[in-house]
Amino acid sequence: SPSDPDLVERARAAKEKLGDKVFVLGHHYQRDEVIQFADVTGDSFKLARDAAARPEAEYIVFCGVHFMAESADILTTDDQKVVLPDLAAGCSMADMATAEQVAECWDVLTEAGVADQVVPVSYMNSSADIKAFTGRHGGTICTSSNAERALEWAFEQGEKILFLPDQHLGRNTAVRDLGMSLEDCVLYNPHKPNGGLTAEELRHAKMILWRGHCSVHGRFSVESVNDVRERIPGVNVLVHPECRHEVVAAADYVGSTEYIIKALEAAPAGSKWAIGTELNLVRRLANRFAAEDKEIVFLDKTVCFCSTMNRIDLPHLVWALESLAEGKLINRIEVDPETEKYAKLALERMLALP
Ligand code: 13P
Ligand code: SF4
Repeated sequence: SPSDPDLVERARAAKEKLGDKVFVLGHHYQRDEVIQFADVTGDSFKLARDAAARPEAEYIVFCGVHFMAESADILTTDDQKVVLPDLAAGCSMADMATAEQVAECWDVLTEAGVADQVVPVSYMNSSADIKAFTGRHGGTICTSSNAERALEWAFEQGEKILFLPDQHLGRNTAVRDLGMSLEDCVLYNPHKPNGGLTAEELRHAKMILWRGHCSVHGRFSVESVNDVRERIPGVNVLVHPECRHEVVAAADYVGSTEYIIKALEAAPAGSKWAIGTELNLVRRLANRFAAEDKEIVFLDKTVCFCSTMNRIDLPHLVWALESLAEGKLINRIEVDPETEKYAKLALERMLALP
């Protein structure tokens, strides 16, 4: 069980035995029972940077999902080993764009005569293969905290952007932050011939959005925003940009997990907030800020945890730490050198964004 004192003690002892050899990273969506053992917590951008800044740690234990562990492997040295405590901790959004589908999409863009104007921008939430594709074609990675700068940069390199794989982050950033219109965006459906688009539509589009989404954030609705405004007069609605465009348009504030935490830290006592992001984080923030008289509620009680983030639990963490302490390397995430080379190019472009 999460509060099992035996497991807590075992995790503590294994971590102590490993000392500086291990560095534990925890994404904000992780369970409390796991977060308590993280050396740093952060959003996906901060964790990517922090992983790269620890060359002395032999093992990076990544409490998060598969694409984050891959990114950490790409950004760390070859001697460092990245461990994901449960290999089944994937991300359904990242799985919505495969290397084959994206290669096919590039053929479609080439056929339509637009490929040479297109710069790919891929959300961090994508496989290393997709990041490598992005690097090979002169594009950059982005996260929810730098998507605006990534799009601005990409529009300096070319006339069109292929945004992968989250249609919502792509659309929200283009419309909300860059002032583009919904008509500038088209949706590429990898399950339809030619993405379901005509060559004419591709020639007119400025943003070609991949038809992917987050199964958690995609469930927040405009009704949940209206309901909470009715229930809690004066409430501030703050949502993650993986939410649908209508939800983002109905909210008061939009930002990454790190932004959400900072906004609540800066909020005055007595203020009320409804948060549309993953439940582990919202609960932790509600508990943390209750003492400062800030009322924090979950935007929609019918939305569940991210099931893959939740796979990393205390028993898996204990197993990973104890194995490493006994000199047994388990669950290593290792990107092959050819993929790594180009994926790194795309990630480094992101890290160099102004
Ligand atoms: P950020 O931590 O970058 O806000 O991303 C949220 C997310 O869904 C990660 O999977
Ligand atoms: Fe993927 Fe959504 Fe879970 Fe983030 S919250 S890991 S995008 S499924």
